[in-house]
Amino acid sequence: MEKVVIMGAGRVGETTAQFLAEQELCREVVLIDIREDAPQGVALDILQTAPFFRFDTEVRGSNDPAAMAGADLVVITAGIPRKPGMSRSDVLETNAAIIDGIVDDVLCHAPRASILVVSNPVDVLTWRVWQRTGWPRERVMGQAGVLDASRMATFIAMETGFSSRDITTIVLGGHGDSMVPLPRFCTINGIPVSHFVSEERIRDIIQRTRDGGAEILALRKNSSAYDAPGASVATMVDAISHNRRRLLPCVAILQGEYGQDAIAMGVPCVLGQSGLERVVELEFTEEEQRWFDGSARAVAADIDRLKALTGN
Ligand code: LAC
Repeated sequence: MEKVVIMGAGRVGETTAQFLAEQELCREVVLIDIREDAPQGVALDILQTAPFFRFDTEVRGSNDPAAMAGADLVVITAGIPRKPGMSRSDVLETNAAIIDGIVDDVLCHAPRASILVVSNPVDVLTWRVWQRTGWPRERVMGQAGVLDASRMATFIAMETGFSSRDITTIVLGGHGDSMVPLPRFCTINGIPVSHFVSEERIRDIIQRTRDGGAEILALRKNSSAYDAPGASVATMVDAISHNRRRLLPCVAILQGEYGQDAIAMGVPCVLGQSGLERVVELEFTEEEQRWFDGSARAVAADIDRLKALTGN
């Protein structure tokens, strides 16, 4: 990819830009933020790490939406973060208005780009971007499952003492309290995690994964997570940029898969050069299906709330 634009030079935007630049996942990273001078400062700071990491990716900041012209991918991190005690849905109204403005800018300045949504509530906002752009779902996706799966893998590594390199996890559903970690598909180098961890401890890990964002927010107090979120976005960008056709849990628009239609939820997807190339359907057990359906109801309720707020 030539050019990736990051909307929002807050902590997630900044960390994402650093990873993209450092790993040379594109030739140019442009950070855009409405705060005067802020994206320019962030870009300059990142650029000054280039001699350490030996990258020559161009990084710049701008307050002008026209700077997104020619973007292959627009990553949306802008929005207000939640405060301790708030759920991701509590920031829906404010962030939906911010996202609408960004979508209009993308339609005007970068009409051939794909969009990757990171701002919360990510499922609903991904749906909103898809609805407002009218684009095919290949070009509109959200980041949630890569982060949630990395949290689950970290907790399994902490529990078992095994290297997190060997741990594969999968977390689907909405990126909220109803997310669906699937221990049946979690392995340590191919060996089911249940071989090493008791059912009770797996249940604790599932709950801690669901609360993963809130746990960090409660500890940091004045900030949500941003290191692992930035790395998660970089993982998705890498898959698209290098046409890796990686199978990753992403927020996708469902069009009949999993019995759902016109809703955005975390499902296993193939990411390659044309974006979200394919949704992979899994056969669920009864319990997993119940979790997934509950998650779909929670996301659908938020989408209905947004429709009521915006009148469309
Ligand atoms: C998290 C927030 C950012 O999961 O959604 O950390």
